[in-house]
Amino acid sequence: MSETLNHPAPLHAPLAPHGVSTPAYLYDLDRVRQAHHKLRSWLPEPSDLYYSLKANPHPDVVATLHALGCRAEVSSPGELDAALTADVPPADILYTGPGKRDEDIDRALAAGVRDFAVDSTWGINQLDRAAARHGTNVTYLLRVNPGGGSRGAGLRMTGDPSAFGADADHITAHPEHYTGRDHARLDGLHLYLATNITEEQALGDSFSEAITVAQTLHQALNVPLRTVDLGGGFGAPYAREGELPTYPGLADRLADELDEALPGWRQNAPRVAFESGRYLTATCGQLLTRVLDVKNSHGQRVVVLDTGINHLGGMAGMRRVPPLNPHLLGPNPPHTRPTPAPPAETPTPAMICGPLCTPLDMWARSHPLPDVSPGDLLAVPNTGAYGLHASLVLFLGHPAPLEVVTDGDQVVRSDRLTFTRSPSDT
Ligand SMILES: Cc1ncc(COP(=O)(O)O)c(C=O)c1O
Repeated sequence: MSETLNHPAPLHAPLAPHGVSTPAYLYDLDRVRQAHHKLRSWLPEPSDLYYSLKANPHPDVVATLHALGCRAEVSSPGELDAALTADVPPADILYTGPGKRDEDIDRALAAGVRDFAVDSTWGINQLDRAAARHGTNVTYLLRVNPGGGSRGAGLRMTGDPSAFGADADHITAHPEHYTGRDHARLDGLHLYLATNITEEQALGDSFSEAITVAQTLHQALNVPLRTVDLGGGFGAPYAREGELPTYPGLADRLADELDEALPGWRQNAPRVAFESGRYLTATCGQLLTRVLDVKNSHGQRVVVLDTGINHLGGMAGMRRVPPLNPHLLGPNPPHTRPTPAPPAETPTPAMICGPLCTPLDMWARSHPLPDVSPGDLLAVPNTGAYGLHASLVLFLGHPAPLEVVTDGDQVVRSDRLTFTRSPSDT
């Protein structure tokens, strides 16, 4: 038996998982706090940290991170609602995204949001017009697409033709296009070069590039920058066993580089900010699922679960991220087993499929799994980020999974999203 199967991550004791209706996501707020504590220790001080709700907009997760001092980075009306539901004050919300509908901006302004990130001159003008309509003034971070890509990036965001950001070269050549408008003031720069970088050297290189670009553009724009948002890229395990990466030398490296490039940052002039979704939430979550069927198909064992790409890894089905290779922890997590525990089975390869009526609904073509039977409970670890909210929940009409939030020994919430059709308001 593999080592990981011998040492599954502990499930939350008060849940009595065998009684939990599956599929169910479990989120542990203690683990959110631990991840936040770690991430803060890798960042130079002073700096702000934005929690990117795209990783997991569950209101309890958002509220926990806000209570720890994170601001909220939202990029859709749904994420805005999630932040407001979690009682994040509008002043702590940054509204980003490469394409925003006028009504989305109106709604954010009506809610009191005044800080935006824009990706083009069109975006600046659109924001300016919206602020004028609302009789108010706003500030924006100018998102930048620098010339080169970052090494070691799990998913490179810039450096190539992209919806994200204005080209650094164009900003340098035409700075006057990017400085403020009557109702929209340039507050600073937004750089998000890459995501999911687990190596400290590569992550440091990505931030170094961001700092250099910020320094160059600061000179070109020739206006005071109040904020330099250096973005993120902090890695995390996804749907497999593993620990959060460590970046012990990062804070000192970045502090030295910031001293050179943006002296004044230690006095918050400019304020330096970072963003993270996955690092803060990946390890707080696990997905519980039951086996629905086990059969032999043309010589291969096929295990059909009660969840699939509709609840985890949907973006893999859309070819947006590499195919998932989830680590199933084995049947009947140990402390839920009747004692004595049944003897361990030797894992053998199985095709792991979900219940959807499409061949795309396959988490793994060949994954080592012990003997399992219909009804057995399995767990997929480290699914607190890009789990449910990066999946194809509406595809084929299965109910959303339960979402159960624990804090220490307490279950603080257990509910599920529902989807209803409502009349058009236009
Ligand atoms: C602008 C921006 N901020 C934050 C994030 C969050 O990334 P991660 O969850 O990898 O930290 C992303 C991810 O694509 C992003 O585009």
